[in-house]
Amino acid sequence: MKNTVITFRQAKGQRKLSMLTAYDYSTAKIMDQSGVDALLVGDSLGMVMLGHPDTLSVTVDDMVRHAAAVARAAASALVICDMPYLSYQISVADCVRHAGRLVTEGGAQAVKLEGGADFSAEIRALTRASIPVMGHLGLTPQSVNALGGYRVQGRSPAAAQKLLDDARAVQEAGAFALVLECVPAGLAARVTTELEIPTIGIGAGAACDGQVLVWQDMLGLCDRAAPKFVKHFGTVDTAMREAFKAFVNEVQAGSFPQAEHCYAIKDEEEMLGHLY
Ligand code: KIV
Repeated sequence: MKNTVITFRQAKGQRKLSMLTAYDYSTAKIMDQSGVDALLVGDSLGMVMLGHPDTLSVTVDDMVRHAAAVARAAASALVICDMPYLSYQISVADCVRHAGRLVTEGGAQAVKLEGGADFSAEIRALTRASIPVMGHLGLTPQSVNALGGYRVQGRSPAAAQKLLDDARAVQEAGAFALVLECVPAGLAARVTTELEIPTIGIGAGAACDGQVLVWQDMLGLCDRAAPKFVKHFGTVDTAMREAFKAFVNEVQAGSFPQAEHCYAIKDEEEMLGHLY
């Protein structure tokens, strides 16, 4: 059965939700078949897929292309697509137009945007256009320059109060779920209790209604130091390195390909003898 924003909301208090980032068809297919509830086409693709130092240069065209690949693979997972930097901050009209492309061309069932009360108008407009919205608070990577780096948020009483107020505002504006990134576990637990919509944590403790990870981080495919909240559920980098090395060695040694990897033709010698 296909997950929807309704099944997502119904899960609150009943079962924990799992979400993984996904950017391409093959990987998304494996994730979908593994039973993950949602696939997030995150703008983290700028870093983990395209090699940029941050998410700021990701475009709506990038997101449309990757969302479409993921959507084609998702038989049961809910597909949520990030709105990239400056695709929703300039005007409400731009925001709806760009989100519309993620849905109509990218096949996303919902979009995610970063920010709190300041973006209530955008969340309302999207909801009115029947585009479900997932909020994102705490460490919001598109604000890396304003935040002075990638660091834990909500640590002071004032910052914690602001985060709780923003969470309420995002829910009030119509969001169906909220990502909490790099937030102290106790504060995330408080937000989770306060809200009727599910919270999805990344570095926000176990009390959230669900968890999300960037798949390259959780499989050891990350070329930077992994943040504290990342658990390595596998070491796919080792398996890939070994396989690529074996390919190079076999090609160099002439032991690949073997006869079983080659196409033959009948009466080969005779036929080739007629070629000039
Ligand atoms: O872009 C992304 O991958 C995200 C997750 C870290 C939640 O927003």
